[in-house]
Amino acid sequence: MEILHNFSLKKYNTFSIEAKAKHFVAVHSAADLKTILQENKSQRKFILGGGSNMLLTKDIDALVIHIDLKGKKIIAENDDFVWVESQAGENWHQFVLWAIDQNFGGLENMSLIPGNVGTTPVQNIGAYGAEIKDTFVSCEAMTRENQEIKTFTKDECHFGYRESVFKNEVKDQYVITSVVFKLTKRNHKINTSYGDITTELAKNSISNPTLKDVSNAVIAIRQSKLPDPAALGNSGSFFKNPILLKSDFEKIHQQFPEMKYYDVSETEVKVPAGWLIEQAGFKGKRFGDAGIHKNQALVLVNYGNATGQEILNISKNIQETIFKTFGIHIEAEVNVI
Ligand code: EPU
Repeated sequence: MEILHNFSLKKYNTFSIEAKAKHFVAVHSAADLKTILQENKSQRKFILGGGSNMLLTKDIDALVIHIDLKGKKIIAENDDFVWVESQAGENWHQFVLWAIDQNFGGLENMSLIPGNVGTTPVQNIGAYGAEIKDTFVSCEAMTRENQEIKTFTKDECHFGYRESVFKNEVKDQYVITSVVFKLTKRNHKINTSYGDITTELAKNSISNPTLKDVSNAVIAIRQSKLPDPAALGNSGSFFKNPILLKSDFEKIHQQFPEMKYYDVSETEVKVPAGWLIEQAGFKGKRFGDAGIHKNQALVLVNYGNATGQEILNISKNIQETIFKTFGIHIEAEVNVI
């Protein structure tokens, strides 16, 4: 393993921000990871997966360890289900397509989400009515401190909306090396409840969709709304959709009766941050090389040479304006480094 110095991370973050790692190494196996962690005990470390959920606002004064563990295999199966283990460095979308090709169901609604398998549990990724927690069984992780391996069961992951134990109780303590999913082999639970999917399938006159049909519909929707990071730097939704107590929401709703919302529990509602940002006039705005996407206001974009700080400033401006206008605080989903 070669440790590189003063290494550009532009190709390693989907925002395409130019920032340097003081030291950089890619690890291709759990054994490599163990060695690197052991040999660099006193060195500050930064774990980098697919780089799809972070905004780099400065150079990283640490040893950046890029998790590039590859491989996937079936570890158990019966007539109805298959248990698949994927290494952390597998590209998420390629993994989803592979599962669909094998006729394994459960991941299709999460097609085309950027990033790698190993980081999907960290923020319990989700889209179009599905979340990783619905198919997740367990993941293996190594402690950064003394390289012990621990298996986290689904319960131990404390999954919530874009949340898990890895962002909270054990933040920065582990490196996820592999993930196990339980997928269906038959009687797939095709989930087309999300309005956009129903519309997309109807457009193509599909009434009995297969896994592939659902995946294609999701891909078409995402491509119409969300920019491709390979063409335009971005990190998906920059903010989380805020969750409000119904009692608080009702007061706001009286003032803004057209505000969209979804019930999430008896006492809480979720408000689409994209709607708030659009209403506040930010959608499609550009400030230098940084901006707000024209088709989905939740997504901030880098038109070329924006700095992380410029994107961060826009995000703060949006947060302040939304708070002043609606009295709602919106929280970043992306990790700001
Ligand atoms: N909306 C607007 N203006 C906008 C964007 C959205 O008015 O510019 C409104 C839409 O009309 C719709 C509502 O907001 O009524 C919801 O929009 P959409 O279906 O596009 O989903 P979202 O809530 O904006 C979430 C996820 C996405 C995920 C989609 C689909 C979060 C933070 N984002 O977005 O996830 O793809 O649902 O399930 O929960 C991501 O996390 O990176 C991501 C892209």
